[in-house]
Amino acid sequence: MSSSPNKLNVHALVWQETQLSVLDQRQLPEQVHYDTFSTAPEVAEAIKSMRVRGAPAIGIAAAYAVALSVQQHYALDNTQWRQQVNADIAILAAARPTAVNLFWALSVMQDVLACQSGSPVAAMISKAVEIHQQDIAANQQMGEIGADILADAQSLLTHCNAGALATGGYGTALGVIRSAVQRQARTVFAGETRPWLQGTRLTVWELAEDNIPVTLIADSAAAVLMHSGKIDWIIVGADRIAANGDVANKIGTYSLAVLAKYHSVKMMVVAPVSTIDFTMDNGSQIEIEQRAASEFLPDCYMHKDSLIGAWNPVFDVTPAELISVIVTERGAVFNPFEQGVKELQNENRI
Ligand code: MRU
Repeated sequence: MSSSPNKLNVHALVWQETQLSVLDQRQLPEQVHYDTFSTAPEVAEAIKSMRVRGAPAIGIAAAYAVALSVQQHYALDNTQWRQQVNADIAILAAARPTAVNLFWALSVMQDVLACQSGSPVAAMISKAVEIHQQDIAANQQMGEIGADILADAQSLLTHCNAGALATGGYGTALGVIRSAVQRQARTVFAGETRPWLQGTRLTVWELAEDNIPVTLIADSAAAVLMHSGKIDWIIVGADRIAANGDVANKIGTYSLAVLAKYHSVKMMVVAPVSTIDFTMDNGSQIEIEQRAASEFLPDCYMHKDSLIGAWNPVFDVTPAELISVIVTERGAVFNPFEQGVKELQNENRI
């Protein structure tokens, strides 16, 4: 295989000393275009508008945004700078509701800021860079753990984009696929992921950039593909995992999990511990983002007298009982339905 587990071809976020460059994922695969931001509200807008998306990447972008905010407001040397940073943090927290990595990263950055007595700028930038680097390392670790579990499984189906584009680099679900393909040839399928088409526009592009062959399917072809016996594992990422192992992820994940159960296909969720919300007992407490009808309702239905609306929840919750294994950088939890994932709170677990 020509891909290497340590080679990172695709970068969603690039820190450039005093600014953050963000790959505009709305323009992929046609254009590889980066925007460069120097303020937190600009980054919040980039998260909201999905220039940058995917739970870990949203968290990392938010960490850099807090560093940008401190850099901007502390430099003005006024007594109000902490209030201005807090106002920026509130703007960032309102950008998207479901991915817990956003709130996790903001809280880590706030803790570091609280400990600074002298100039905080360098410390804040270095913490954001550390969060970014640790995410890549966690992904590479999860890739190996997940590939061990797959062993010789031949045929893999993923949903949405849980790759380098959705993380600091390497990816969660796609990290496992990268590591597995590195060991031996596999057959990889990707669902198109309506309505935003993360599978069509991002996942197949990202895999091809890494020389990994992939077959795109319409979401609605998943059942017949599983029925044909051609899928061994479904591998997905997560936006928030509750303490009992329920998983919020891209809309359509729950459908795949139900289909997987019926067809005896195994279901793997891959996510760093920063995606686990230990404060939530179960998935019913997770806020599910609703996005605009215009994401898939044709323009001709969008006038004020129209009788046609659209319902656009962009995540769903898969109950733990439908999940075979949750893979994290602290190891894997098989059958999370039995005991949930609370054991992963232990930093020394692996
Ligand atoms: O709406 P998106 O594109 O931000 O949703 C992304 C997903 O649902 C991913 O599967 C999830 O964030 C995991 S990314 C490693």
